[in-house]
Amino acid sequence: MDNSLIVRFSLSQEWITEKEAVVFGVFEGEDIPCGLGFRKETAEREARHLFPVFSAVKHYCSHKDFSGKFGETVAIYPENVLYKRIILCGLGKKEELDDEKLRQAAAGAAAFAKKMNAGKVSFTLFGAPTQDATARLRAIFEGAALGLYSFDAYKKEKEDASRKLKKMEAVEFLLPEIMEESEVAEEKNKLDKYIAIAEAVYFARNLANHPASVVTPKFLADTAQALSKLYKSITCEIFDKQKLIEMGMNGILAVGGGSAHEPMFVELVYKTPNENAPTVALVGKGVCFDSGGISLKTANGMDEMKMNMAGAAAVLGAFFTAVKSKLPVNLVALIPAVENMPSSKSYRPGDIIKTMSGKTIEVINTDAEGRIIIADALYYAVSKYNPTHLIDLATLTGTCIDALGNHYAAVLGNDDALIRQLIESGVATGEKLWMLPMDDVYKKQIESAIADVNNTGGKRSAGTITAALFLKEFIGEHKSFAHIDIAGTAMLPEAHGYKNKGGTGFGVRLLTEFLERLK
Ligand code: BES
Ligand code: ZN
Repeated sequence: MDNSLIVRFSLSQEWITEKEAVVFGVFEGEDIPCGLGFRKETAEREARHLFPVFSAVKHYCSHKDFSGKFGETVAIYPENVLYKRIILCGLGKKEELDDEKLRQAAAGAAAFAKKMNAGKVSFTLFGAPTQDATARLRAIFEGAALGLYSFDAYKKEKEDASRKLKKMEAVEFLLPEIMEESEVAEEKNKLDKYIAIAEAVYFARNLANHPASVVTPKFLADTAQALSKLYKSITCEIFDKQKLIEMGMNGILAVGGGSAHEPMFVELVYKTPNENAPTVALVGKGVCFDSGGISLKTANGMDEMKMNMAGAAAVLGAFFTAVKSKLPVNLVALIPAVENMPSSKSYRPGDIIKTMSGKTIEVINTDAEGRIIIADALYYAVSKYNPTHLIDLATLTGTCIDALGNHYAAVLGNDDALIRQLIESGVATGEKLWMLPMDDVYKKQIESAIADVNNTGGKRSAGTITAALFLKEFIGEHKSFAHIDIAGTAMLPEAHGYKNKGGTGFGVRLLTEFLERLK
């Protein structure tokens, strides 16, 4: 799998030279490009050079064809300017611009430049007065890089070629001309870090978008193992079916039993040399395809269930990004990987599974499979590592989409501080979370007359909450657990801003940010 960003990203201080396309931001109601981030006393040469640009923008805006409304994008072609095209990107009201809007604006401008056939696009670091140069660089980079993602691995004729478009090859960010070398080097380090994070998002998107015939449990395990070989600080263990039997991971075995692709369990461990570092265990749901099993889903939309491993993809992406940047945090990533298929070997409605924890599950519906495999992973995480923080990411319930749609994931847990940290990381990255109550008042719904719990929550109402309560049954006395239901955010029915249709890689940036803030 090639997870490179396709487009090359760089920093430049060269303003006074020919350029194919340069993007400027304009606030609603204003008629000059905003926030170039120059320091007044040093920007004379640039200012003189940009004077014709400013007057062209002013002239253009005076016609009222463009008002700087958020999402509005136009190209102008002024004379006496070294730039072939100037792309004006509407930023909306100054006081409303935040990092997330900036990401979206940058994605819109990058897509626009691509459509205009530009082989290279240069971004000025526009933004709100409250956003410093680094925040602008990060948001504009993320918007452009993530917005330019496309998945055409299986197209004979690639999209660009079929539309006779020149391939966009490079994006540069314009820093002040006289910025010191050491300061530029600092920004370059930051950009490299952002590139690594964006590559992890591409990685997670690709894993979700490749079909289930390719991304099997073994493929997930092999991918994790291959990546782990790149770092001495990681150990990787893969449990095959035999090992799962020995370990008593009967939840994973039951759900994966119906498929010719045998279930696997991936255990990745990263140890920081820092003493007294927290240990974070991340569990990612890895259902490579979810037909529903014997409780077969209807045909409509079943194809999307190749993405039911998006939690696993995000956990892997975040894990390797954290390792790459040597975060001072101990990390454990656990991936139960299965395919949920109907066959004579499948588990059935009515079956009772004795999980690794010893607790039993009455299977009411084999389509509520995610919680069963995560149950074993959570128990394993707590009993082996007793982590300071325990977090799982899962495309777990359709009812989460009923509640929050595609723009917020649900977070539930037993530690308010952990939940708050996660929500704040979501705000910072644009991977937003909304808390639902993991309150025992709903517990009656997961009771079973003949086993310790049932696997459906009895009825559809409060389905996301009862799924979380189910998971809580398997964490023992653990006091810092959060469950993140990404059913609506991991895959989009249509593109939105810098998020493409299909797998979005949701969770990679959220978890990376959370881990960064922990250190
Ligand atoms: N993977 C699904 C949940 C899902 C649905 C994710 C749509 C993304 C988009 C999960 O395995 C599932 O099938 N859940 C059932 C549970 C029910 C049977 C209790 C659901 O939500 O319908
Ligand atoms: Zn299911």
